[in-house]
Amino acid sequence: MSIQIPRGTQDLLPGEIELWQYIEEKAKDICRRYNYQEIRTPIFEHTDLFQRGVGDTTDIVQREMYTFEDRGNRSLTLRPEGTAGVARSYVEKKMYGHANQPTKLYYNGPMFRYERPQSGRMRQFVQFGVEAIGSADPAIDAEVLALAMSMYGELGLTDVKLILNSLGDQESRTSHRQALIDHFKPSINEFCEDCQARLEKNPLRILDCKKDREHPLMASAPSILDYLNEESAEYFKKVRLILDKLGINYEVDPTLVRGLDYYYHTAFEIMADGEGFGAITTLCGGGRYTGLVEELGGPSTPGIGFAFSIERLIMALKAKGLVDSPVSKLDCFVVALGEEAKDKSAELLYQLRKAGISADKDYLDRKMKAQFKAADRLGATYTAILGEDELSNKKINVKNMVTGEQKEIDLDDFINYMSEQITGGK
Ligand code: HAM
Repeated sequence: MSIQIPRGTQDLLPGEIELWQYIEEKAKDICRRYNYQEIRTPIFEHTDLFQRGVGDTTDIVQREMYTFEDRGNRSLTLRPEGTAGVARSYVEKKMYGHANQPTKLYYNGPMFRYERPQSGRMRQFVQFGVEAIGSADPAIDAEVLALAMSMYGELGLTDVKLILNSLGDQESRTSHRQALIDHFKPSINEFCEDCQARLEKNPLRILDCKKDREHPLMASAPSILDYLNEESAEYFKKVRLILDKLGINYEVDPTLVRGLDYYYHTAFEIMADGEGFGAITTLCGGGRYTGLVEELGGPSTPGIGFAFSIERLIMALKAKGLVDSPVSKLDCFVVALGEEAKDKSAELLYQLRKAGISADKDYLDRKMKAQFKAADRLGATYTAILGEDELSNKKINVKNMVTGEQKEIDLDDFINYMSEQITGGK
């Protein structure tokens, strides 16, 4: 029996991968302009990191982690998100001691969540994310939000919505927490088991429950914005003020709580605002965290970041018709006829490639016509024809497939000539 790909995962093949590369390059270039540097952390970490970092009352930790024991009986988990690993590394590598602060990092890699697969919800997906750790300046919140919005804007996705909320500081959260307990407690037995368990541990999570979403007490739940103390309200105001100055539109939604426990103050999501997108409309999520670095053994350090999956970004681009079918092109295909010409073509290819030109040849002993067809399929800009006659005259025939122009070139000049054509001799 043949073996199939695991549910919720996908193969990315040539033809599709070019779009991924384009998006990844674009995202990296935006990070470069915002002065964020790349970090790569392991794909698996100690399970404890996510229990403490993401929070053990979250859906992610309670039912979505790929956790396994290694041969040394350690409990390890395939990372479900990137922030906890980055914060772990920040503490372990003592990045807080570096002169340049805040520490501004970005990452791009696979994450794993045991979710029910559907369009836009994978078990393995690729997150591109950023974290700015070490500053509690509202301007850095605005910077991170601007960076997130640029990712969409620069790819042409302009009708996305930035949804913003503040979860307040510790004091604000504590008074809001009590208000939530008072609100839900009298009727908590009408809620699911998870919510019942969350009531005392983390009542904010109740607002994020997928099962009890329609319960009337959800809509009337106390709003965090009414419980922000002066400092938190001021912080939120400042973030919005800077966004206004940058001309970045947003909507404040006090019900936005996010699915992870580490957020304080600014929390946000970017939503697709288009038709044909199905049930999942959240493209990107993030926010500010305060206790995470400390929880992982570092000094009390605030951070802010976000992540989006490239899968959902591509869905949004496709829904908007913003994806041109990507073409990968070849500069030169060498058509060789006869044993000696074939040997020579291997040498020419090697030199072309060294000169920065993408080049290929036939490896299936095809006839001339079939070799031309192969060149055509590969989208070759030039074909260079080397037959026995050409070889004995030390010549090669170069055809520009776009203009149809054909030229006989001295074999010794061939690489220079091609460099001139392709790279302008640079
Ligand atoms: P999150 O909201 O859990 O936040 O995930 C962020 C983004 O990852 C989502 O908006 C979505 O684009 C993508 N995503 C999540 N789950 C899936 C899935 N099953 N399939 C496809 N895409 C998915 C975080 O992960 C935080 N670490 C973000 C953050 C960074 N907060 C601060 N810094």
